[in-house]
Amino acid sequence: METHFWHERWHRREIGFHRSEIHWALKRHWDEISGGRAGRVMVPLCGKSLDLRWLAERGHGVVGVELSGRAVEEFYREWKKAPTCTRSGRLQHWRAGNVEIFEGDFFDYLNDEPFQMFYDRAALVALPQEMRGRYIDHLGSLLADNASGLLVTFEYDQASMDGPPFSVPADELGDYPGFRFELIERRDALADHPGFAQRGLTDLQECAWRVIPV
Ligand SMILES: C[S@@+](CC[C@H](N)C(=O)[O-])C[C@H]1O[C@@H](n2cnc3c(N)ncnc32)[C@H](O)[C@@H]1O
Repeated sequence: METHFWHERWHRREIGFHRSEIHWALKRHWDEISGGRAGRVMVPLCGKSLDLRWLAERGHGVVGVELSGRAVEEFYREWKKAPTCTRSGRLQHWRAGNVEIFEGDFFDYLNDEPFQMFYDRAALVALPQEMRGRYIDHLGSLLADNASGLLVTFEYDQASMDGPPFSVPADELGDYPGFRFELIERRDALADHPGFAQRGLTDLQECAWRVIPV
């Protein structure tokens, strides 16, 4: 999936993935994922998700990475914050309140301090299978040994609909070394995504996973 695909989606306002509510899995499961820790949270491929704000309001330092400058500008504008912006290697580093967003390619993002927590909603599933292993490896390189994360995936018949979002079956997760994936909750999600039914799906499961580096 080339970067211009996503720039084009933002340019055309084809951002059906963006939600005006906090994700259910974050609200229900974040406390058990964070274990009450107040450290920094990595949010890869963050878009302009309101979940960034929710995490910040819980006292976390939040660090997103997002390709689209348009998404980043909209995030801060809608939050009514005026961010600073500086160059950081190949990325632009935006910051306001306790949310920092690095604008650029996630694979160019490097950190000096490992993250103890991460939140992935619509990041892994945004990538085709041939990119997902590289994504998981890079995410792993950013995390502390005792990190934990919340991952939200979709499962559906990939033959019935093209991604993104892609189906990431449970057995695929088992193929990624370096992480243990524990299913926390699985939900029927078709009713929440009528557009996917129109695209041909008759079954859609949304899964919340606790992810632990091993
Ligand atoms: C499906 S959207 C999900 C956004 C956000 N996680 C949410 O829940 O609303 C995927 C986002 O990843 C961004 N993206 C795609 N590839 C990327 C990459 N290589 N590096 C950084 N961001 C990327 C896209 O611009 C898009 O905003």
